[in-house]
Amino acid sequence: PETGCLSITVLGASGDLAKKKTFPALFNLYRQGFLPSDQVHIFGYARSKLSDDELRDRIQGYLPQGQELAQVISGFLKLIKYVSGSYDSPDGFKTLDDAIYKHEVSRNTIEGSSRRLFYLALPPSVYPQICKMIKSYCMNKSDLGGWTRIVVEKPFGRDLASAEELSSQIGKLFEEAEIYRIDHYLGKELVQNLLVLRFANRFFMPVWNRDNIDNVQIVFREDFGTEGRGGYFDQYGIIRDIIQNHLLQVFCLVAMEKPISLKPEHIRDEKVKVLQSVLPIKDEEVVLGQYQGYKDDPTVPNDSNTPTFASVILRIHNERWEGVPFILKAGKALDSRKAEIRIQFKDVPGDIFKCKKQGRNELVIRLQPSEAIYMKLTVKQPGLEISTAQSELDLSYRQRYQNVVIPEAYERLILDTIKGDQQHFVRRDELKAAWEIFTPMLHRIDGGELKTVPYKRGSRGPDEADALVEKAGYVQTRGY
Ligand code: BG6
Repeated sequence: PETGCLSITVLGASGDLAKKKTFPALFNLYRQGFLPSDQVHIFGYARSKLSDDELRDRIQGYLPQGQELAQVISGFLKLIKYVSGSYDSPDGFKTLDDAIYKHEVSRNTIEGSSRRLFYLALPPSVYPQICKMIKSYCMNKSDLGGWTRIVVEKPFGRDLASAEELSSQIGKLFEEAEIYRIDHYLGKELVQNLLVLRFANRFFMPVWNRDNIDNVQIVFREDFGTEGRGGYFDQYGIIRDIIQNHLLQVFCLVAMEKPISLKPEHIRDEKVKVLQSVLPIKDEEVVLGQYQGYKDDPTVPNDSNTPTFASVILRIHNERWEGVPFILKAGKALDSRKAEIRIQFKDVPGDIFKCKKQGRNELVIRLQPSEAIYMKLTVKQPGLEISTAQSELDLSYRQRYQNVVIPEAYERLILDTIKGDQQHFVRRDELKAAWEIFTPMLHRIDGGELKTVPYKRGSRGPDEADALVEKAGYVQTRGY
């Protein structure tokens, strides 16, 4: 691993994302020894006037509690300094640069390079100006080498044109290798397991195709609405918030061809290819919903047509997948919180057991909660008679890996940015291909041509969505 001074700056340090995700992830890395205090300093930058201690107090509220952690928490908080400034002020960024530089001078007694990571926990509208400021005032100046990297959060744009504009503005200032576009779903344990599952198991490789798989569902459900962030959400909607990024990344990993190696570029090349093979989405293969009560939020306009639920069928035009529907479904204010992939196989040909009525083989990968991989299969019902029943081979992580702590997505991804591993980050051409798929539909929703249907809070979503899944060929399994 690289050694030398590492400065991590969290811009938007007093915001929600920083407090809830970025700092706790940094804390976990520190606790495990990945951020040694003789090398690392963390800077918070934001507009509010705060003292170092005030920022530390705010952060502490989001860290795990417990007497046994007191020492490690205090060690971590000591690493944090606060710099206040606006996002377009040279003065603010010069002060930040001074602070980082001082830290580097004090630590550069050890041989090594100086590394500067800037985490933009802020809305994308300010990315271009912040990138300009970083480029002008805060780049790594060490003669011993090192790097400057920026981490940006979604949403990267609102549609193809705005995303391309954003990419080109940032692209003029930073190389692709310096830009880390986070999609935190790529940091989830079972999402990272997908390539292993697919390409390290003889079981799956030969059947992973249109001859054997009938349909695939990638589903995200949340049992809470947009409370507290209705104003933000209403500008984006569930497709931009979840489907175009989180679910589409999972889709890529399920559907892409085998990369020639695990090198980030090889993996990302395959993702781009499969995205480019997606056919235009048909209106009759889309269901949009909005939960009742969504518009009660005073920050949401009364005539909002923004979907809080969407079910969309993607079809891939290639040899492996032609004819197989991939149903991407996401909704807020539903009956449960769950994210899972369901790969349903075709009926057994020449079935002598008449087991069709019991259901099909299905591979389910549950990303959260309670990570699990299970296969539904038909077995003989124990007893004297030969009759069949559905059962399952179940790898439940909680049982199988009782003593293993599964890292948080952000923790893993931040560590990757420090290591310089871009495998789990979205490349510019991948982002473009993702927007190409959804932009026509998004424009029609924004223009009111595609309408949302209401659904009840706490329900499964609109009935039309269940009908769409059934039409796509999914067969509900009985007896499970
Ligand atoms: C975020 C979305 O990217 O992901 C939120 O903006 C959503 O709307 C969240 O709640 C879900 O993340 P997770 O990890 O809880 O599934």
